This record gives sequence, C-alpha cells and structure tokens, in this order.
Amino acid sequence: AVDISSLYRDAGFFTYDPGFMATASCHSAITFIDGEKGVLLYRGYPIEQLATKASFLEVAYLLFYGNLPDEKELDDFEGVIMQHTMLNENLKSFLDGFRYDAHPMAVLCGVVGSLSAFYHDSINVHDPHYREVSAHRLIAKIPTIAAATYKHNVGEPIMYPRNDLRYCANFLYMMFATPCADYEPRLIAEKALNLLFILHADHEQNASTSTVRLAGSSGANPFACIAAGVASLWGPAHGGANEAVLDMLAEIGSVANVAKFIDKAKDKDDPFRLMGFGHRVYKNYDPRAMIIREVCHQVLEELADVKNPLFDLALELERIALEDEYFVERKLYPNVDFYSGIIYQALGIPRNMFTVMFALARTVGWVSHWAEMMSEPSMRIGRPRQIYHGPQVRDYVPISKR
Ligand code: ACO
Repeated sequence: AVDISSLYRDAGFFTYDPGFMATASCHSAITFIDGEKGVLLYRGYPIEQLATKASFLEVAYLLFYGNLPDEKELDDFEGVIMQHTMLNENLKSFLDGFRYDAHPMAVLCGVVGSLSAFYHDSINVHDPHYREVSAHRLIAKIPTIAAATYKHNVGEPIMYPRNDLRYCANFLYMMFATPCADYEPRLIAEKALNLLFILHADHEQNASTSTVRLAGSSGANPFACIAAGVASLWGPAHGGANEAVLDMLAEIGSVANVAKFIDKAKDKDDPFRLMGFGHRVYKNYDPRAMIIREVCHQVLEELADVKNPLFDLALELERIALEDEYFVERKLYPNVDFYSGIIYQALGIPRNMFTVMFALARTVGWVSHWAEMMSEPSMRIGRPRQIYHGPQVRDYVPISKR
C-alpha cells in the first residue's frame, strides 16, 4: 500500500498556517494597516483625515482608481454611479420570492449574485473596461438592493432611487420614504452614514475580501465574487459582529450587569465572547473605533434627542474591560463594530440590517481588490494545499461485508 505521508515528502515543502496568521496571500497597493501602532491608510491617506474630510464616493474613487479625484473627476464619477442605481424590474419578482422574514443578508447575497444573470458582459473579466463597468454597477446598485431587502422585510413597497440626491442621502431616502410619505434625510444622518461607510470601505485581506479574491481567481464574474464576499461577511466573527454587539448590550441590560458579562467572556468553558472586542490584526486600539467613539456623542445627541442608555452601557463595558488583566494581556481593544451599531440604531436602521450596511460600504473595497487582482499579469488561481490526516490507503469492502 502507498504510505500517504511519503506523498507529502515527495511533493516538497508546505507552510502550515491555520487562520493565515502569518501568510501574505498577495501584493496590494490599496490599504495599509499597522496593527501594533493602530494605523490604517487607504492608498497612503490616514483614515482619520479621510473620515473627517472626504465624501464616501470620493473615497470609493480613491480606493478603486488609486488617487483622489479632482473636482471634475469626482463630478463625473458621481454622475456615472448615480446613473447606474436602478435595478432591472424583473429583480422585484425575485425579491418577492423570499419569505417575508428572510434575513436581509440572505436576500442581499442572493440578489447580488443574481445580477450576473442580467449583465452578461460581466464575464469579460480580463477586459479593464468591463471590470470598471461592473465595479460602477456594483457600487451604484448595492444601496438600492440593500434598501430593497429592508422594504421586503417590513412589507413596504420598494422605493426607486432618487438620483438628484447624494449617495448616502439617496440610500436613506430609499430606506425611509414610502409612496405616501416623503422623507428628507437630516444632514447629521447623512454625515454619520458617510463616516461609517468610509470607515468600513476597506480593510486589506480580511476574510470577506480574501473570499472575493479567491472566488475571482478562478475567473468567476464579479457579481458572483461579491456575493461570496457578502456570505463571508455575515459571520459573527466578522461583519456580523455589529449586530451581535447590540444583541449583547441588550442582553447585558444595565451597567450593574457589566462585571458579570466580563467574567463570562473570560471563562474558557463558556463560548461567550465580548462582541466588538479583539481583532486579528489590531493589537492596539482600532483607529476606526476611536473615530466612531469620538463622533458618537455628537451624532446621538443630534439624532436621538435623548440620552442613549446603550452608549453609556458600551462606555462602561469598555472602561471595565480595558482595566481588566485578561483583556490587557491579550491586547483586546474595541473594534470598529463595537460602536457602529449604536449609531446605526440611532439612524433608525434595524439590527438585522447592520451587516447589510457593512456590506454596502465594503463593496467598494471588494471591487477594488478584485479589479487589482484581475489586472495583474501574474495572477493565478488561488489553490491552497492541506495537510491530510485521514486514513491510509484501504480497500473497498462490499456493503454486505462491512
Ligand atoms: N472576548 C473574550 N476573549 C477573547 C475575545 C473576545 N471578544 N477575542 C479574543 N479573545 C481571546 C481568545 O479567547 C484567546 O484567548 P486565549 O489566548 O486564552 O486562548 C485570545 O483572546 C486570542 O483570540 P483569538 O480567537 O486567537 O484571536 P483571533 O485573531 O483568531 O480572533 C476575532 C479575532 C475573531 C476578532 C476575535 O477577537 C473575536 O471573536 N472577537 C469578537 C467578534 C468581533 O468583534 N468580530 C469583529 C472583528 S472586526 C471586523 O470584522 C470588522
């Protein structure tokens, strides 16, 4: 019989790195992270500057094309994006086919994947022009789809996009207007959304972006690849954390219970983790969490007009955790999702939509990485190996003799 372990010896040298703790899967010029120092740069620009000074579409342009646009370039880009915001009418019947209470992420995943059935030119993945058109379509249509998943969930008619509004204002309009009640987005709501979208736009080779790259490396069309990214983002260890944070804060209920939940998170026999805490790369304060934390006060005061008990609870949880030896030793700090859900809630966005909001923003990063990878002459299909630890070679036994 063949000794399987000898096959590995003959196949040469493999690295074994579960969770890709120390493996770079690609070269990229898009985003830089220094997890020890808490630094995040998009195309070289510090996230703190972009978050406070740029618009989301300006950042989308930067991530996709590599440089900040001048006024005309931004104007043209906004025009192109807003021109692509409509969905094919047939998608409405596809949406209607989902159960009324389907999770919006399930619907988003299906509808995004289905776009490849409408745009046949998207299979031209080796042509830069079609890659650009596909990226424009995805950035333009994802807010329309996201708002439609919400409308489906609450049983209201889908609202068509308003291309006279800015990107974030249009999204809020599609979410909250109805055919019988118009909706004027408040400037503070638009600004808050713009900020959150910028902070979520890209984060180098996270699980969902790596999924998009791996799917795309086979030459799959971009809509299928982004649907794969949506699916990966949904998990509670990744984008699903923003929904899980609010569930956790609701479960904790009051400041008096914080210590009990901190103990639960430290107990290795208990699967409970402090959601919104810890990060694979940041072993320091997540700079995005720092930015959101700072604007949270202002946004909540202006939007909710009342003191937000969840924010106070979050601050207390953070204070106690950051003084606790367990969290200090393991360098577990709040991540971007610790605060984002609190702002989304103040904007009137329901909890089951939080990860959809993340996907909407991250689409910009996903298409940028996909296009960057597809433009590389040396691009190869991604094909990791494994260390096999199953049975040695054995002979088939007829079922009557097993
Ligand atoms: N609560 C309690 N303990 C934690 C937490 C937490 N949130 N996060 C990590 N730990 C502990 C682990 O139990 C482990 O302890 P040990 O060394 O005693 O075994 C140690 O810290 C290291 O944790 P790992 O799981 O090995 O770290 P990893 O890099 O694999 O995981 C992750 C990172 C998934 C983000 C993790 O910290 C986590 O589950 N956090 C909660 C979920 C979350 O907020 N996810 C959002 C991430 S950000 C984003 O996707 C935008």
